[in-house]
Amino acid sequence: MKKNIALVTGGFSGEAVISYRTATTIAANLDASVYNVYKIDINNEGWFYETESGQRTVVDKNDFSLIADGKKILFDAAFIALHGTPGEDGKLQGYFDTLKIPYTSCDAASSAITFNKRYAVAVAKMAGISVARSVHLFSHSPLSAAEVAATLKFPVFVKPNNGGSSIGMSKVDEAGALQSAIDKAFAEDNQVLVEEMVQGREFTVGVFRSKGEITVLPLTEVRAHADKAFFDFEAKYQGKSDETTPAVVSEDIADKIRVAARKIYEVFNLRGVVRIDFIYEEESASPFMLEINTIPGQSVASIVPQQVQSLGWSLKDFYTKLVEEALVS
Ligand SMILES: Nc1ncnc2c1ncn2[C@@H]1O[C@H](COP(=O)(O)OP(=O)(O)O)[C@@H](O)[C@H]1O
Ligand SMILES: [Mg+2]
Repeated sequence: MKKNIALVTGGFSGEAVISYRTATTIAANLDASVYNVYKIDINNEGWFYETESGQRTVVDKNDFSLIADGKKILFDAAFIALHGTPGEDGKLQGYFDTLKIPYTSCDAASSAITFNKRYAVAVAKMAGISVARSVHLFSHSPLSAAEVAATLKFPVFVKPNNGGSSIGMSKVDEAGALQSAIDKAFAEDNQVLVEEMVQGREFTVGVFRSKGEITVLPLTEVRAHADKAFFDFEAKYQGKSDETTPAVVSEDIADKIRVAARKIYEVFNLRGVVRIDFIYEEESASPFMLEINTIPGQSVASIVPQQVQSLGWSLKDFYTKLVEEALVS
């Protein structure tokens, strides 16, 4: 019997547009001879399934079921293709856990911790992974820009602590520009992370587990174009960056990054495919972890699909591995 897979996409944040692109690639590459795939769009208006004829039906949240062609459909597993909240921060994971529906991503706790950039670097640091020095601000008790400036060395990166896709983020070179950057980040989130800049080459790498074995995919080096201060939204999604996969880098550096990536996957008890961002700091000759993306982009232009294909693997086989892993967990 074919398994019913819910391909869950959309979301409540600005990242929804990216989620739809991710879901398109996954839908095109999920093996239709093994799975019945139903794309479910969770957005601010509701939870919907759209039939091929364009008819929208509402998902029953009591058991995550839907009616298609007059038949009630229940799911064997959910493939989460939803960036940002509620697909990347543990909320859907908690919902699926209560319904005992397996899913392709990390569990609720790991998703929630990694989605909070500050808690993620704190746990990584405890495990011996290098991370940038930072200050964590809350909107209910914000520190002044002067207090932050007194603690950290410039330049700094100011980010919404729970954001993604570089929305609301700034690079700040001197104290005078700090307050407006903090205000901009607070417009996106009620927590803000101010982080010292790590100098060095930037790498990002996909990691997944299948049948008990962790695989670190080939590294990608990312370089924002010269007119970009960092790997921002335009650099990421509007082509203003160069990405090299596999990265052209010495084995010594690549190996340090792979060792760190594997350790992070284990320490955070990750599941499914994740992508970890690093800066390799030349001065200390060590990779610094920036963040963990537990629902990495899977659009045709995204990094994880490039890494998978650079091994000569098909996306179809790769997504099958991820679904099979969810079904046995
Ligand atoms: N501490 C830092 N040092 C140097 N570059 C950084 C730092 N933090 C962020 N960046 C740059 O900004 C980009 C986006 O930051 P990141 O923390 O990965 O957030 P996002 O969720 O938006 O991808 C990174 O890919 C990197 O180019
Ligand atoms: Mg990132």
